[in-house]
Amino acid sequence: MNALVIALANQKGGVGKTTTAVNLAASLAYRGKKILVVDMDPQGNATTGSGINKGNVRAGSYAVLLGEANIKQAVVHSRGGNYDLLAANRTLAGAEVELVQEPAREMRLKNALETVQNDYDCILIDCPPTLTLLTVNALAAANQVIVPMVCEYYALEGISDLIATIRKIRQSVNPKLDILGIVRTMYDPRSLLSQQVDEQLEKYFPNKLFKTLIPRNIRLAEAPSHGIPALAYDPKARGSVAYLEFADELLEKI
Ligand SMILES: Nc1ncnc2c1ncn2[C@@H]1O[C@H](COP(=O)(O)OP(=O)(O)OP(=O)(O)O)[C@@H](O)[C@H]1O
Ligand SMILES: [Mg+2]
Repeated sequence: MNALVIALANQKGGVGKTTTAVNLAASLAYRGKKILVVDMDPQGNATTGSGINKGNVRAGSYAVLLGEANIKQAVVHSRGGNYDLLAANRTLAGAEVELVQEPAREMRLKNALETVQNDYDCILIDCPPTLTLLTVNALAAANQVIVPMVCEYYALEGISDLIATIRKIRQSVNPKLDILGIVRTMYDPRSLLSQQVDEQLEKYFPNKLFKTLIPRNIRLAEAPSHGIPALAYDPKARGSVAYLEFADELLEKI
């Protein structure tokens, strides 16, 4: 095994990065793949959504970034999703400051993930919505980026910010970083705006648009409060089915 490392990134908040990380992980695991989710967001939403109590995280991504814990020992198993998780909580925000003096501070996650490369088929990194050292660590460690986006008025601006960031990362710490694709989340086919944004996306990113559309689905929003992916909460829900289709599209693409 040589894990493909994918960052879920978009500098716009609330576009479905975490929902995609958790539900894609569960869907890929359901298809028999060995998956690790790395929570790189101090909000710890991927951690909660995977059934891990944020208050009980002793060694998670923070400890790994600071070299206080070995990633193999820090990884836990998710509840209801059959994938592994490197958890996070608010302490991760401190890493930003604490790493400033450290050598190779952008490469901390990459170096840690290299030691578990052979344990997984795919490693999904849930990024925070801000461009911090945490996001830089995620993009330095990744082979590919998946950009979740909502088809609304400012969506394209968010994407151009991210593309500028990826360009800078390529010039500095990760020359091979590539965008695997854009996935449309919370999709409402009846919205005129969705249709207009779709046209723009097809014009500017013809080869980067995933075909699978993730619909707006209440089960996807409810599942995290139960600490399980939608696939375990309600496998027949439209959202669960869509993420399974997305996983299949992804497996075909890679
Ligand atoms: N397809 C969907 N249908 C309905 N609700 C959704 C869907 N996708 C995400 N949500 C809800 O929208 C909110 C934002 O989603 P999510 O947390 O995944 O976004 P995010 O990009 O990770 O946000 P942040 O930038 O804060 O990390 C959450 O409450 C989530 O449950
Ligand atoms: Mg999130």
